Amino acid sequence: MKLVLHVWRQAGPNEPGRFERYEPHTNPHMSFLELLDVVNEGLIKQKADPIAFDHDCREGICGMCGMVINGRPHGPQRATTTCQLHVRQFRDGQELWIEPWRARGFPIVKDLVVDRSGFDKIIGAGGFITARTGSAPDGNTIPVGKGDADRAMDAAACIGCGACVAACPNASAMLFVAAKVSHLATLPQGQPERYARVVKMVDVMDEAGFGACTNHGECMAACPKEISIDFIAQLNRDLLKATLAPPPEGKHWTGAA
Ligand code: SF4
Ligand code: FES
Repeated sequence: MKLVLHVWRQAGPNEPGRFERYEPHTNPHMSFLELLDVVNEGLIKQKADPIAFDHDCREGICGMCGMVINGRPHGPQRATTTCQLHVRQFRDGQELWIEPWRARGFPIVKDLVVDRSGFDKIIGAGGFITARTGSAPDGNTIPVGKGDADRAMDAAACIGCGACVAACPNASAMLFVAAKVSHLATLPQGQPERYARVVKMVDVMDEAGFGACTNHGECMAACPKEISIDFIAQLNRDLLKATLAPPPEGKHWTGAA
């Protein structure tokens, strides 16, 4: 099986980029990242610069392997990360255009690698709970209803890949932020900082250069973990509550409202 790849090559953040053409012979059972490995082995043999791309787990867990394939973040297969995509998804001789995430909040580092530290800053602003350290509490000390546990798990499935940003015409990070906010807002452990968290995370999202949500829904369609835009509605409700009923001067939000 042969594919024609047009891969975005860019030596550095301020260098001009261009598509370069490669025509690897591949095994249809290879993963998409293995296909890029084959191309890179060939480039290394020719003493040329291999294609830089991010990856880690190659199991759909870590969220590192983002790239746009024929205009779709993570490629054509729904609910699938690039590392879980297989060459057999494509036709023999098909041409593929492979690009990095393109968003102001994700500046290009090299080739297909982008700087996703904007997401780290958002998590640093509120993607945590404050808990007493020491011995682990008994498993059933804090009961969580089945509905809440399921909803929190659905939100926690977000792997922070950034496909939602890459798919959004506004390059908004709302689906990512909503997943993190909703995960913690649904659990008792997340209540003490619930409203401060949503304000801080949304502020940092704006500062990091991500756009606003205008309800296109492209984020949910591109998300490999099928995170629902219902979580954006939950984020907006909490943000509205925090904004309309801020804590008194000199006080902080404490507890659920
Ligand atoms: S919401 Fe989906 S697309 Fe966005 S970062 Fe999380 S897993 Fe990736
Ligand atoms: S390499 Fe970890 S999700 Fe793809």
